[in-house]
Amino acid sequence: MAETLLALDDVRAGYGESVVLDGISLELAEGGSLAVLGRNGVGKTTLLLTIMGFTRVVSGSMRWRGRDIGRVAPHRRARLGIGWVAQEREIFASLTVEENLTVAARAGRWDVPAVYRLFPRLAERRRNMGSHLSGGEQQMLAIARALTTNPALLLLDEPLEGLAPIIVEELAEAIGRMMAEEGTAVVLVEQHTDVALSLARDAVVIERGAIALRGSSRTMMADQSSLDRLIGLNLTAADDRGR
Ligand SMILES: Nc1ncnc2c1ncn2[C@@H]1O[C@H](COP(=O)(O)OP(=O)(O)OP(=O)(O)O)[C@@H](O)[C@H]1O
Ligand SMILES: [Mg+2]
Repeated sequence: MAETLLALDDVRAGYGESVVLDGISLELAEGGSLAVLGRNGVGKTTLLLTIMGFTRVVSGSMRWRGRDIGRVAPHRRARLGIGWVAQEREIFASLTVEENLTVAARAGRWDVPAVYRLFPRLAERRRNMGSHLSGGEQQMLAIARALTTNPALLLLDEPLEGLAPIIVEELAEAIGRMMAEEGTAVVLVEQHTDVALSLARDAVVIERGAIALRGSSRTMMADQSSLDRLIGLNLTAADDRGR
C-alpha cells in the first residue's frame, strides 16, 4: 500500500463567518488520484483552497505525510509540494510560454522538455506571449507551469471548463498521461463527470459542502442513478451551452 499523502479529518471551513465545507474527511495516497464532482457552488473550489490554506478552518484536521499542516501558511504548503492550478488559469500574460515555464521551476522529473513532451502545442508556441494563446493553450500552460514546480500533489480546478470539445479531448488525454506517470498525486475538480471518472482512480461527489457519495471511479461510473440525482447526467451538454 502506498503511504498516505494527504488526509482531511472532519474539516469545516469557509470564509469569514460563513462555513462552506461541513465536515469533509478524505484520504489520498502518494501518487493517488481523486475526482471531486458536484454541481455549481457546492464547495469544490473551497475544498482546494482549504487544502492550499486559503480559507478559514473552523474545526477538523489536515495532515500532509502525517504532519499537521492546519496552521501552515499557503506559500509553505506550496514548498512542501502542493501545487495548484486555479479555476481562472493564472498565467503570466506578458511573458513567453517558455518564460512562464521557467519562472517557478524546481528540480525534478517535470522539467521544460518533459512538459513540452506532454503538451507538444506549447513547444510549438514557446516564444509566444501568454496573452497570445488560445483558451486551451492557456490551460495547458497553467498546468505545465504548475508541473515544473514538481509538486507531490497537483490540485486541478475544472481544467476543462469552457473549452471546445476537441480541446477537451486533447487536454484530457494529456492529463491522463500526466497522471499515469508515477509520483504526482492529483485532485481533479471537474464538471465533465465522465472524463473525470475515467481519469481518476477514486471519486467523491460533494453536495452542500459535504461528501454525498464516495468510492472508486469504476463503481461510481456504474451508479448512474446516484450520479443523476447528485449531479445530473447531462453535464457535458450543459457545459456546451456555456454555463
Ligand atoms: N471568497 C468567498 N467569500 C464568501 N463566500 C464564498 C467565497 N468564495 C466562494 N464562496 C461561497 O462558497 C460556496 C461554494 O463556492 P465554491 O466556489 O467552492 O463552489 P464550486 O463547487 O467550486 O462551484 P463552481 O462549480 O461554480 O466552481 C458558494 O456558496 C460561494 O458563494
Ligand atoms: Mg469552483
